[in-house]
Amino acid sequence: MQGIFISMEGPDGSGKSTQIELLKAYLEDKGYEIIITREPGGTVISEDIRRIILNKDYAEMGYMTEALLYASARAQLVTEVIKPALEAGKAVISDRFVDSSAVYQGMARGLGVDTAYKINAYAIQGIMPQLTIHLDLPATVGISRKKNQAELDRMELEAIDFHERVAEGYRKLASLDPDRIKTIDATMSIEDIHAKIVDYVEPLVKQ
Ligand code: ADP
Ligand code: TYD
Repeated sequence: MQGIFISMEGPDGSGKSTQIELLKAYLEDKGYEIIITREPGGTVISEDIRRIILNKDYAEMGYMTEALLYASARAQLVTEVIKPALEAGKAVISDRFVDSSAVYQGMARGLGVDTAYKINAYAIQGIMPQLTIHLDLPATVGISRKKNQAELDRMELEAIDFHERVAEGYRKLASLDPDRIKTIDATMSIEDIHAKIVDYVEPLVKQ
């Protein structure tokens, strides 16, 4: 069986984790073995890197350091988890992947999208999602959902205009690669969003 690689993208609090759980159940029902990964994280080493990146005491972290740390966490995840899973025919659903670096570091931090993808070319070793779901949500809505959930991390504590650049950045990125990146209005109900995701995933599923 050929593996499927789907990434879930969007601003903080846009409902990625919620939708990944529903998509997992759908794909399991179709007979796939599912691997869910989150970024930054998903391996012991990558989770350690995550703790450094999101530590709110590290306000002095440089943007290039941040970009390289995300790429390091990703490199380990690809090598240890994503590549072997796809080779074994599994379905991989990733809570964020390289497009997060294109938007957060490339656009919102201002390093440039090309620079972000260049740094990450080493990390992803040619592996890209076949489908990327972009959950489109106004930044203020996402952050207020997050505030209700847990203490905010170093990225979530950024000023609202940073999060606005992220939300706008995703819209721009999706318009540049409409074949792969599918935008869904994330203000809809959880069930309606799931139904839209299934419409996009169905053609990738084995018969
Ligand atoms: P993310 O993984 O993108 O940060 P989550 O799935 O953790 O987002 O959702 C953030 C919060 O918003 C959670 O409390 C979740 O229950 C809630 N939520 C998720 N989807 C919706 C939705 N469509 N409408 C309203 N609230 C939602
Ligand atoms: P995540 O745990 O997905 O946060 P959330 O559940 O709030 O969406 O991601 C952690 C943070 O890291 C989030 O603010 C987005 C940011 N991020 C980047 O800036 N670049 C990246 O390459 C990745 C993967 C995440």
